[in-house]
Amino acid sequence: MNQEIERRRTFAIIAHPDAGKTSLTEKLLLFGGQIQVAGAVKSNKIKKTATSDWMDIEKQRGISVTTSVMEFDYRDYKINILDTPGHQDFAEDTYRTLTAVDSVIIVVDGAKGVETQTRKLMEVCRMRNTPVIIFVNKMDREAKDPFDLLDELEEELRIHVRPLTWPIESGERFKGVYNLYEHNLNLFQPSKQVVAEKVAVDVNTEELDRQIGSTLADKLRGELELLEGVYPEFETTEYLKGELAPVFFGSALNNFGVEELLNTFVEIAPSPRPTKTEEREVKPDEEKFTGFIFKITANIDPNHRSCIAFCKVCSGKFSRNTPYYHVRHDKTMRFSSPTQFMAQRKTTVDEAWAGDIIGLPDNGTFKIGDTLTEGEKLHFRGIPSFSPEMFKYIENADPMKQKQLAKGIDQLMDEGVAQLFVNQFNGRKLIGTVGQLQFEVIQYRLENEYNAKCRWEPVSLYKACWIESDDPAELEAFKKRKYQYMAKDREGRDVFLADSGYVLQMAQSDFEHIRFHFTSEF
Ligand code: G4P
Repeated sequence: MNQEIERRRTFAIIAHPDAGKTSLTEKLLLFGGQIQVAGAVKSNKIKKTATSDWMDIEKQRGISVTTSVMEFDYRDYKINILDTPGHQDFAEDTYRTLTAVDSVIIVVDGAKGVETQTRKLMEVCRMRNTPVIIFVNKMDREAKDPFDLLDELEEELRIHVRPLTWPIESGERFKGVYNLYEHNLNLFQPSKQVVAEKVAVDVNTEELDRQIGSTLADKLRGELELLEGVYPEFETTEYLKGELAPVFFGSALNNFGVEELLNTFVEIAPSPRPTKTEEREVKPDEEKFTGFIFKITANIDPNHRSCIAFCKVCSGKFSRNTPYYHVRHDKTMRFSSPTQFMAQRKTTVDEAWAGDIIGLPDNGTFKIGDTLTEGEKLHFRGIPSFSPEMFKYIENADPMKQKQLAKGIDQLMDEGVAQLFVNQFNGRKLIGTVGQLQFEVIQYRLENEYNAKCRWEPVSLYKACWIESDDPAELEAFKKRKYQYMAKDREGRDVFLADSGYVLQMAQSDFEHIRFHFTSEF
């Protein structure tokens, strides 16, 4: 069992849209032998120009089922890549996926540097001390100065960095990268299929001058000296604590610098790590199976409403057709057709180990965060909901379909499409999302899958925050004062709906003993 767990690497690639996540994923699959030619992996992003096109949403859902997890063997390692949606309106989905990974590769566009989405996702990584490797992409295009880029990464992502490869120029003058710990030169040769040959050179010999010319050779020598002076030795332990990120430079499109990244990744990235539950910490090498649901994806065929619930195996071994305990329902279930994912294919699996992701067919029995065990009552932690950024009241637009609407809303919320709050003052249902697109998805799916119609009523709110206090009297006083702005989430917890940043600030200073939380786990 230990051997199986040790060789597993479960991670996600995160990036701002267009930085090159799809291209990098594809090259990794190429190395894993999962696909034979470049261009086989579809991007799961919805093009910015067509955000309100229903077909695109459908396509997105179709693609995201097949590319949710990609697994392959590389050298002695078993690699599980968890895909994250490209569109920022699905950021919540990405946050949740990050709770199921043991490490992360961040792709940054060398010309654009750190962008908004990267910054946000890094915050989620920081919350969990997820180890991070950075790949600076598109070096075949004119990029920022690498020293400036490193400074930007440190400052914007608030993590120490240590380059492990170093670029020689960029854009049309791009010559390749120098590998700082293997001490060899990887000369750039634009190609989507072929992996460039490496040349072992001692930087202090004339061989370097012969390879890249004297001017660049001298410049490289100077830069390497500077690097040694500025950046401390790379320490794997610091990387594993989430404090230090190794940085690689390359071009995903040209399959350049990707092999170095992959080779270092499998060697330093963590195998499955212990997972926290409310009761105790679960270690991956425990004999008994435990797992949690971090993502639910609906089938795109509206006549056949079934979902796939994605379960991360946290400990032990999962076996097909074995009874497992569904903690929330307090009942035993068996799964006859659990699936695993290989690039574009799905296959039935007989067993899976800690670190693996399995797809379980679901007809509404699962909810994000659900736990499966061999009988122990455990509740996994660390799948927070974040305060939504957009809010609308949802109204029934077809009085004959009240029941269908309620059921649809319930199930879509279980899937984690958005968050539902009930305003305690007027009893109205309020849906909170991270993007406009979700409202369209909900409306469309209610109609197509539940035969229910909804109407949206805009409401201007700034944030929903979960509140708690050790002083019950103050909490009551707060709820009384803000009675029009108090709501309950689906778990019945108190949520304050602040209509502006100023109001929130005032509330925080007026009620000192109340804690305002911006994620549902505190
Ligand atoms: P994403 O998943 O992070 O959104 O990025 P994706 O890989 O789809 O890449 C976004 C665009 O950047 C694509 O161009 C892709 O070809 C290009 N790209 C990715 N890596 C590199 C690189 O190393 N060098 C260069 N020069 N370009 C790169 P596109 O025009 O949007 O799509 P396509 O028509 O090329 O498929």
